[in-house]
Amino acid sequence: MSSVSVFGAQWGDEGKGKIIDGLARDADVIVRYQGGANAGHTVIVGGAKYVLHLIPSGILHPGKVNVIGNGLAVDPLKFIEEVEGLRARGVKVDGSNLRLSSAAHVIFEHHKRIDLASERWRGVGRIGTTGRGIGPCYADKAARTGLRVADLLEPERCRRRLAAALAEKNALLEQVHGEQPLSLEEQLARYMHLGEVLRPFVGDTGAEVREAYRRGKQILFEGAQGALLDIDHGSYPYVTSSNTGSDGIAAGAGFPARWLDRVVGIAKAYCTRVGEGPFPSEDHGADGVKIREAGNEYGATTGRPRRCGWFDVLAMRYSLELNGADGWIMTNLDVLDSFEEIKVATAYEVGGRVHREWPGAHVDLADVQVHMESARGWKTDITGVRRYEDLPMLTRKYVEWVEKLVGVPIVMLSVGPDRDQIIPREGLKGALAHA
Ligand code: GDP
Ligand code: IMO
Ligand code: MG
Repeated sequence: MSSVSVFGAQWGDEGKGKIIDGLARDADVIVRYQGGANAGHTVIVGGAKYVLHLIPSGILHPGKVNVIGNGLAVDPLKFIEEVEGLRARGVKVDGSNLRLSSAAHVIFEHHKRIDLASERWRGVGRIGTTGRGIGPCYADKAARTGLRVADLLEPERCRRRLAAALAEKNALLEQVHGEQPLSLEEQLARYMHLGEVLRPFVGDTGAEVREAYRRGKQILFEGAQGALLDIDHGSYPYVTSSNTGSDGIAAGAGFPARWLDRVVGIAKAYCTRVGEGPFPSEDHGADGVKIREAGNEYGATTGRPRRCGWFDVLAMRYSLELNGADGWIMTNLDVLDSFEEIKVATAYEVGGRVHREWPGAHVDLADVQVHMESARGWKTDITGVRRYEDLPMLTRKYVEWVEKLVGVPIVMLSVGPDRDQIIPREGLKGALAHA
């Protein structure tokens, strides 16, 4: 039996969907434990593209159980849209291969309205959220005024709790944001019947996952967003509203932290960020644009152009240590194929002081000057390479240099968006050995 956490180690969009889909072949249960439809996980199978928002990226493999854990903020309309979208493409999705926690929180229309309204209210200080209602839903969870999936299954309880929630949210929308209130009857009509649609998927998923682990099944935890967007440990306040790394699993899946056997981070060979907030290794010049075009760096959820920059050693060391990663996967290496020079951020300078490790929350990342070092590019198409030893010498040099700087072994490389564009490294054992 084993359990593996695979999480984004940068600011999201590291290629989690592709990697989880690949690893899911060897897994029995694939579990999302945080976030919601703010995530956009791309899986490409033989040229066909799937973008998953709420449903785990194991869903394309028949016979696997995919779990949406209690730690998610679930928009039931998005859930149904995603299930139907997959079914329309011939993917079997039902209560046997997709499970939804009865304790997951529900995103309603008012959460999405308030998400957008608060962004307008913040003005230049906005976070650049995905507008999916994530922050307001988690805020209600913490304030103990939220509704959970279980409430949707009980019409009377749902009516009572939604009426109470809307009374408060309408006051906020009208009196603070100057917006039209939402009609309780309309909202009830939109959401009350969804419980019956969700019912076949709903269960005590924490108990189901623990039971599967005890019975010797292989469990794969799929992170959403990235460690630097973590509510506690990321670049606050420019973060999402959940614990995005392996730190979120115990609470968000009901799976004891002590039962995690392996933790693996994912990072691109460069770095991207979507939305506002500090990004020390961002490249504002021609190279940033070149990375965006070569990597097709546009948001899978919102379509926004992603900000692009260079691999950041300090950020990576921090993310991996924080989440206890014993290995990491480098993705999008092929995107650097045409670069003459490849840069890497190796130190930060602020107030005359040079930092070689990620600075604590007392340092404002926006004030940081980055020290870059560089490597020579390989100027060769590597998308068809499948064995590490077949990579150009300069590519291996870059990979091994970055690996040494980070100090944690790279267990796999990704050289293209398709499922089979994977290069395993030597020394892979156990849960990830198949690749
Ligand atoms: P996620 O949110 O971490 O699942 O990542 P996204 O799907 O939002 O963004 C990753 C993008 O990179 C998607 O368009 C993927 O199809 C693509 N991708 C994943 N791995 C690779 C790779 O190794 N090379 C290239 N060129 N693209 C990749
Ligand atoms: P995946 O799982 C990249 C960013 C938003 C914004 C901040 C807060 O595909 O890697 P939110 O809507 O969560 O309140 O927005 O977090 N963000 C992501 N950036 N990838 C994601 O998910 C993201 N999910 C949220 O752009 O800056
Ligand atoms: Mg994404």
